Amino acid sequence: MPVYVVTGANRGLGLEFIRQLSQSKDNTVLACVRSTSSDLADLKQASQPNEANTHVLTCDTADLSSIQSFAKQVQKTLGGDRKIDFLINNAAVNSKPEQTSLTIGPEDLTNEIRINVLGPAKTTEFLLAEGVLAKTARIVNITSGLGSMAVSLGITPRKCATYSISKGALNSLTVQQSGELREEGRLGPKCVVVCMDPGWVKTRMGGEGAILEPEESIGGMLKCIHGLGEGHNGKFYTYTGKEVPW
Ligand SMILES: NC(=O)c1ccc[n+]([C@@H]2O[C@H](COP(=O)([O-])OP(=O)(O)OC[C@H]3O[C@@H](n4cnc5c(N)ncnc54)[C@H](OP(=O)(O)O)[C@@H]3O)[C@@H](O)[C@H]2O)c1
Repeated sequence: MPVYVVTGANRGLGLEFIRQLSQSKDNTVLACVRSTSSDLADLKQASQPNEANTHVLTCDTADLSSIQSFAKQVQKTLGGDRKIDFLINNAAVNSKPEQTSLTIGPEDLTNEIRINVLGPAKTTEFLLAEGVLAKTARIVNITSGLGSMAVSLGITPRKCATYSISKGALNSLTVQQSGELREEGRLGPKCVVVCMDPGWVKTRMGGEGAILEPEESIGGMLKCIHGLGEGHNGKFYTYTGKEVPW
């Protein structure tokens, strides 16, 4: 019974992860939301086929104390020897797409770094500290093509400066985690950490003009995630499984 954790599960790509993972009753799914007081009707519906094995937990990835409480809640929810097999750090914001590298709002950049970089860093760190990550865990940081320097160099005019900078930092975090989690006393040599670009998808963040439906992006990412082996550690992939240059 594999255990999945997905952050930002109430809408967009996180919700589609839950929908697809709920098609198998073998899966245990921890669906994490910023707040359980928000409207979770879509999440309830998406997880309905496997509701007995779905647990909705609060994890505000902008708030360190919320992430800390979440990690403890995971330990209680799984109990015994059960551990997380797949951690999908999906929650993120792109709140000021109009800002350029010449008009960065200090608070805006700080906010994006807090949610898009520190959130996944601390989620992984606190889950590790609670001892709930499997030694063979697959940790997937959901990034963007805009986090690739090589891809960004080809985009004219450049776009989404603060978001792009934060996803570049998330990619760097992935490289750091992929080495440090493998050390003795942590997860060891069988864990795999990657970052993955879902493509340009029709969600609130992607907008109506996006080219992909969430079904296709998540279907591709799950196939890729399930195929991850030890040699994939520390790399950057698209939802199709193609490696992306940094
Ligand atoms: N859609 C695309 O074209 C595209 C392209 C490249 C990369 N991505 C990446 O794919 C991932 C999912 O994006 P999406 O398109 O699904 O975006 P979205 O539709 O805007 O959904 C974002 C999700 O993140 C959650 N979230 C934001 N801040 C949070 C916080 N502080 N704590 C907990 N949850 C928080 C949101 O919850 P609330 O409802 O509570 O705000 C929502 O569930 C992100 O990492 C994004 O950067 C998307």
